[in-house]
Amino acid sequence: MESVQAIKQRFGIIGNEPKLNRSVEKAIQVAPTDISVLVTGESGVGKESIPKIIHSLSHRKHGKYIAVNCGAIPEGTIDSELFGHEKGAFTGATQTRNGYFEVANGGTIFLDEVGELPLTTQVRLLRVLENGEFIKVGSSKVQKTDVRIVAATNVNMFEAIKKGKFREDLYYRLSTIEILLPPLRNRKEDIHLLFRKFASDFAMKYKMPTIRLSDDAVLLLEKYHWSGNIRQLRNIAEQISVLEQNRTISGATLHGYLPNMGSNLPAVISADKKESDFSNEREILYKVLFDMKSDLNDLKKLTMELMQNGNNQQVQKDNEGLIQKIYREEEEEKIHFEKPKPTTTEVLQIPAPQTPIKEDDKYHFAEEIEEEETLSLHDKELELIKKSLERHRGKRKAAAEELGISERTLYRKIKQYDL
Ligand SMILES: Nc1ncnc2c1ncn2[C@@H]1O[C@H](COP(=O)(O)OP(=O)(O)OP(=O)(O)O)[C@@H](O)[C@H]1O
Ligand SMILES: [Mg+2]
Repeated sequence: MESVQAIKQRFGIIGNEPKLNRSVEKAIQVAPTDISVLVTGESGVGKESIPKIIHSLSHRKHGKYIAVNCGAIPEGTIDSELFGHEKGAFTGATQTRNGYFEVANGGTIFLDEVGELPLTTQVRLLRVLENGEFIKVGSSKVQKTDVRIVAATNVNMFEAIKKGKFREDLYYRLSTIEILLPPLRNRKEDIHLLFRKFASDFAMKYKMPTIRLSDDAVLLLEKYHWSGNIRQLRNIAEQISVLEQNRTISGATLHGYLPNMGSNLPAVISADKKESDFSNEREILYKVLFDMKSDLNDLKKLTMELMQNGNNQQVQKDNEGLIQKIYREEEEEKIHFEKPKPTTTEVLQIPAPQTPIKEDDKYHFAEEIEEEETLSLHDKELELIKKSLERHRGKRKAAAEELGISERTLYRKIKQYDL
């Protein structure tokens, strides 16, 4: 069996904290079995390496490894992406499509952000876990697959179960073994190590001398709360590497880069910032503007949908539920600022799913709208989201409520802006 150190090296995992080592060790131990694993831990702690370790040390290593980001796939298409669909299952389903569970037969599927799966999909997933059976959307034929599932989440699953958002039976099926990755703030000794690694990476990338931290800066670094964990540390190392002329970074300089998000620093930073609702008039204005823009885009999309589908009655019927549910929630903000991104990270040559909208038209439409967006609107959105997350100490639910968008949309924005 490869040692923990060797695996960490192979997968670029920095750190020596015993809890981190234990997590890697657990991944190594469980890899040769077919047991389902649930990787948990705050956002940015490095959950994504664990399923890769498990797959590559398993007997499935020559099979496919498909990573699916459940939070990024619209509710209306997720069943089709995961389980496939039959020709004619819905408007636009011009061909039969194989889902990831069929394609990954003999391999591993990593279900990232599994807490975001819609309840109907959870039922299908439970069936696969229980007996390897699934049914394509629009089909009645039961198919078999042999897939190992590793899932990850950064939400409190017990809370999600309590709120009826996640099935308890599925949770226990998924988490036969749970691997919890510790937050960065509990890995004090790794913080500086990781910072030095990132500083050296960015020095190489930007062809500049490596930044170094003074002793007081190291202390500050270790005391900071790191709500965004390693991802946040990496971002800050990059910012400083690019922006600071003096390559020795003092505590005061570093201080300027550390946002007050969930910080346990002395009151210095938060001194005059009132944690009230949108206290700033400008912010209120921006929010109103966003809401209007969002409504306008909803209308545009709805119009396009109706025009495109003409008098197809099925679609007319679907439109009521579908457009309200999917587009309001899923597409409303996506079409504002970004082209639809691939929703899987490591899918091996899998064709894009057929959705109720013709993909070409969808992209075209998204591009048209995108052109209309100004950069400053983009910046303001980022600013609003950041402020709201700060105010709510990184609690996405509260921030989403304040911003008037769904948690899923906020989740996507956080990913998009790498917050
Ligand atoms: N131990 C580590 N050593 C070096 N880099 C790391 C380590 N852990 C995480 N990273 C880096 O930190 C970033 C965040 O990690 P990752 O994407 O795995 O987070 P996550 O736990 O999946 O977060 P989220 O729940 O938000 O998806 C990545 O760029 C990853 O490469
Ligand atoms: Mg992740």
